[in-house]
Amino acid sequence: MTGDATSMRTIAIVNQKGGCAKTTTAVNLAGALAEDGARVLVVDLDPQAHATLALGVDPEAVDENLYEVLADEGGAKRLAEVVAPAGERLHVAPSGIVLSALEQKLAQERAEARVERLLRALAEVASSYEYAIVDCPPNVGLLTFNALRAAQEVIVPVEASHFAMHGVEKLLETIALLAERLGIAPDVRILATLYDGRTRFAREMLAELRERFGDACFDTVIRHSVKLREAARRGVPVARFAAASNAAADYAALAAEVAGVAPLASLSESAPAAPREIVIEFRDAGAHDVRIAGDFNGWVPDRGVVSSTHHEQGTRVWRKILQLSPGTYEYRYVVDGEWREDPANPKRVASPAGNAHSLLVVR
Ligand SMILES: Nc1ncnc2c1ncn2[C@@H]1O[C@H](COP(=O)(O)OP(=O)(O)OP(=O)(O)O)[C@@H](O)[C@H]1O
Ligand SMILES: [Mg+2]
Repeated sequence: MTGDATSMRTIAIVNQKGGCAKTTTAVNLAGALAEDGARVLVVDLDPQAHATLALGVDPEAVDENLYEVLADEGGAKRLAEVVAPAGERLHVAPSGIVLSALEQKLAQERAEARVERLLRALAEVASSYEYAIVDCPPNVGLLTFNALRAAQEVIVPVEASHFAMHGVEKLLETIALLAERLGIAPDVRILATLYDGRTRFAREMLAELRERFGDACFDTVIRHSVKLREAARRGVPVARFAAASNAAADYAALAAEVAGVAPLASLSESAPAAPREIVIEFRDAGAHDVRIAGDFNGWVPDRGVVSSTHHEQGTRVWRKILQLSPGTYEYRYVVDGEWREDPANPKRVASPAGNAHSLLVVR
């Protein structure tokens, strides 16, 4: 046993938008962390009970669920009894439709006490798990407040095919406001999900997301995969259902990032055959820091890029060496924190947001 009352990390999966892969992320991040040897509790705070179902537990068949834990004054102590096994090192605190009555049940309580119910319950089991992953419903009500109050970390899954940037910004504002009110400062990170790299639209959405939210975005992107729905239907995490799938690899990469472990050379592994060395240069007398980001490195500035600088005729030159397979790539430079197209390259395409992306063709 390595856990103690202070070492359990509580991570809330939050987004008021429906269908952006909150539950899929809660279940499969938990599954991947458990595969890596961590003891993980999934807390299903959504009355729809999708996480409970996706972990093979029938919400109709359990005697007690989180409602008993959260609704009653002394319920916190009962969390351990309510928890159901869902695989090796993996447990779930089940939900049920009755959870939708919690807000009304607690209406008379002091506001501070009302939002602390989950925090207090999790404190009771903190020595049993390294992680508690909390799946939230698609609204920002009392249940989500409880999750935010209990969590040190928040993951916001964002569907990379249809999301509106505005919605994500609003959500981050809401979380920041709430955090201030609750006197907490959670670490909030954004995860692109349902990503279909074959569509230009999705690639550009990903670029926008990285541009907008920078380091708050996980490097890992969760690709579109039918295996995730099939795994949920079978009631097991995808790591168990289809260990060799892209979906299992993506959630394993996310788990590695969450656990603070560097991902294993994913760039070189997934690249198609015969990458070549491509050298491009950026010249600017006034710039201090120049990086390159494009669909070749998941729009993470300078990731996988060998970078050097020198002077030519009084102007500083940044040289970027990329390893690229034949294909067409979109990219931009990040010059002292500002994103711009390549001034030396006339080939450009417009992104949906009206930015120009430079085009690089490797034959
Ligand atoms: N990467 C993916 N590839 C393909 N399908 C996915 C992926 N992620 C999630 N899905 C599917 O999309 C649907 C919505 O996902 P999920 O239930 O996880 O979203 P949610 O945010 O929890 O929704 P809600 O807001 O209703 O709780 C599900 O059918 C799920 O199987
Ligand atoms: Mg859900």
